[in-house]
This record gives sequence, structure tokens and C-alpha cells, in this order.
Amino acid sequence: MIDLHTHLLWDWDDGPDDRVQALEMCRMAEKDGTKAICLTPHLFRANRYGDNLELLRQRMVEFDEEMRTSGIGIEFHWGAEVYVHAEVVRAVEKFRFTVDQTSYVFLEFAADGVPVGAANMLAQLMSKGFVPIISHPERNKGFAARPELLFEFVNMGCAAQVTAASLTGELGKETRTTAGLFLVNNLVHIIASDAHRTIGRPPGLSGAVEAASKIVGESKARAMVTEVPRAILDNKALPDWGEPENPLRHKTWTQRLLGMPRRSTRPAGWGGGGGQRTGSGHTTVLKIKKNST
Ligand SMILES: [Fe+2]
Repeated sequence: MIDLHTHLLWDWDDGPDDRVQALEMCRMAEKDGTKAICLTPHLFRANRYGDNLELLRQRMVEFDEEMRTSGIGIEFHWGAEVYVHAEVVRAVEKFRFTVDQTSYVFLEFAADGVPVGAANMLAQLMSKGFVPIISHPERNKGFAARPELLFEFVNMGCAAQVTAASLTGELGKETRTTAGLFLVNNLVHIIASDAHRTIGRPPGLSGAVEAASKIVGESKARAMVTEVPRAILDNKALPDWGEPENPLRHKTWTQRLLGMPRRSTRPAGWGGGGGQRTGSGHTTVLKIKKNST
């Protein structure tokens, strides 16, 4: 299995504090059957050293050395989890914070909503040759309340990653239900641990694959930790995944399948991804500079 989104680098972000904890996490991953891991340290959020890229590079070298000398047999790759902010397009273009120098880049929205202008920002990145991977949309209040937004972004060509602990229920019933909704509608492509610590969001994917198998079948669930992340590491197109479906079209049967309560009517003034959204408690504002360099 390949774990494409993790925070294993010690003393950088809200992941492990020291190399001992990082090593323990790698051992847990290896024991669970993970053969390859991509480290995706936070950038523009939750890091301790002000996004000091020089320091990050040094830490990456230290990490690789530490794991090699400690006998960890995992194949390591490097990427980043880029926090969405006003200058995100310019930052990604300038520094190429992608997975292993491919076209794929992990983007993390603030957990409290999907900002106005998000579709425009994603379109700008795609026009520059990047393929955004939306980190754990099931844990974002905006996507959870309006799953049609994720449909819109996946339809544009984005990929999305669901967190293992969301599928196993460790992050709560509601998050698990939302993750299931995205799975059955072909809106998520990758299962990753997003491991931060040995508990909470620990390393390991096998439990989540088992949970996902019950929703989409074993073959597709396994592809989310094998074939799909391998295609990303190889900078290839994703395998055929089936058409993304708008969850709102099937909400009655989907809700029945997943045991979801019926949602109340959408607030007035809610438009498409690129338009002005009003009336939402889960919408923040993102201003993207059009001609930023
Ligand atoms: Fe993360």
C-alpha cells in the first residue's frame, strides 16, 4: 500500500515532535503493510518555522538518513500540503510544492468552509498544468454541507483524498457518513492516513481499506491505496474511476444507504462554484490575484 498524505517529519508542523516519535510512526506503517509513503508537511499553516524552505530541505535530508539507518524499509517520497490562501496560485507556481515533482499538488482548505473563488483558484492552477488534490473534503464543513461543490471540482479535473480515520469512524459518525457519501459518488480517489501522531490520526491504511470495501467493493478500495497513488507518483493520469456523480441528484437513495438524515433546503443565493455565494455559514472569502506572478 502507498500512503500519499502524511505528517511524519519531526519538529516541523503538528506531526511528531522528535525523531523517536517519527520512527515509531514509520514502524507502525510498515507493520500495517505500507510500502511507500509520501511526506506532506504543512505549508502556510501549522508549521513552526515560518515556512522556511531551506530548513525544510535540511530536515528532509535528515529524515531520509534517519529512516535509512534505522532499517525502515519504506520507500519515501516528498510533497507538501499547501494551505489555500490568497497567494496560493503564485506560491505553487513559484515553488512547485507538488508530490515528488509531479503535477499533483495537495491543497488544504480551511476546515470551516469552502471559500468564494475556490473554483477560480483551482481553474488557475489547472491552467498552469497542476492537478489539485483536495485534502480530506469530508472533514471540511463546506463540502460536508454542500457535497455538490466537491462534484463540481472533481468534474473540473481535481482529485480528492479521504482520510483513513474518517472511514474507520475514529473522527466521528458524521465524518464517516460524509466520507461514504463521497465514495459512492466517485468523488474521492485516494485513501491516505494523514498521519500526525501514533494515536488520533495514526499511520496505517488497512482498516480504512476494509471499511471502504464495504461501500465500493474491494477492488476499488484497494486501488485507492495502490493503483491511484502509484499513478500520481509516476505523474500519470489517474485510472478510469467512473463518472463523478452529483450527490444531490441521488440524495434520497444515498441518504437511505448511508443512514443520513434529510438535509434542510439550501440557503437562498447559493450559486455555482465561481459565483458569489451568500447565506452560508460555511463560506469564507478567498481573493485570488488574477495576474499574479
Ligand atoms: Fe494533512
